[in-house]
Amino acid sequence: MKTLAQLIEMKQIGNKISMVTAYDFPSAKQAQEANIDMILVGDSLGMTVLGYESTVQVTIDDMIHHAKAVRRGAPDTFVVVDMPIGTVGISDELDLQHALDLYQQTNANAIKAEGAHLATFIKKATRMGIPFVAHLGLTPQSVGVTGYKLQGSTKEAALQLIEDARLMEESGAVALVLEAIPSDLAQVISGKLTIPVIGIGAGKDTDGQVLVYHDMLNYGVERHAKFVKQYSDFSIGINGLKQYNEEVKSGAFPSETHTYKKKIMSEVNNND
Ligand code: KIV
Repeated sequence: MKTLAQLIEMKQIGNKISMVTAYDFPSAKQAQEANIDMILVGDSLGMTVLGYESTVQVTIDDMIHHAKAVRRGAPDTFVVVDMPIGTVGISDELDLQHALDLYQQTNANAIKAEGAHLATFIKKATRMGIPFVAHLGLTPQSVGVTGYKLQGSTKEAALQLIEDARLMEESGAVALVLEAIPSDLAQVISGKLTIPVIGIGAGKDTDGQVLVYHDMLNYGVERHAKFVKQYSDFSIGINGLKQYNEEVKSGAFPSETHTYKKKIMSEVNNND
């Protein structure tokens, strides 16, 4: 498993960090087998796995349930777990309790939260011993306010983002996710920080990249953002399901190949 020190070293020597989301045992297992450096149990699970419209309905119990499965599938990969909306930014006491619950119950390596307004909380959680990943730019929990659009695209917004990113590092964040911002801005921020900066829709000059598993493998997702590259096509699973359906109905499945050969009924009948 990559340690935080190794992730920082990767940044320093210019080795790119790979990160992908995973939400269950098999996807986590695949990510680990593919030697991905970091797994994010993102609250994007609301859309990809639970069928919600956005991340807004995701609960802390959902996150714990899925993150535990991910940890079982990827025991040797650095796992980050999202704090869902409504579990942070309430009060110091509740925020810290939620962070602690996620950290302790999932055995994750770090917790992630969205937004620069959480600087004080990140500082306190870090002091308590919980490693935190910050998330700036497009923060999906706030799309009701911001919409799904490029962030940091005016001079003022870009300067604010640079300042916010610095604040995250000063607050103790161990890494920063930057989503949907101009690539030249992401390059500048990555250059200014000593912690690894992982981009999604932030161009090639961040220290690493993160993509959502279901987006990159075309698995049940109907609309894709501009920054998503599809590396495989899991939608072909539907062909298998269609053929199975037809074969069950026609009696072609199961054939002899998928049937136990042992015969028992003559013995049963002899005992009668
Ligand atoms: O929840 C998620 O998948 C994320 C990524 C988009 C970075 O936060």
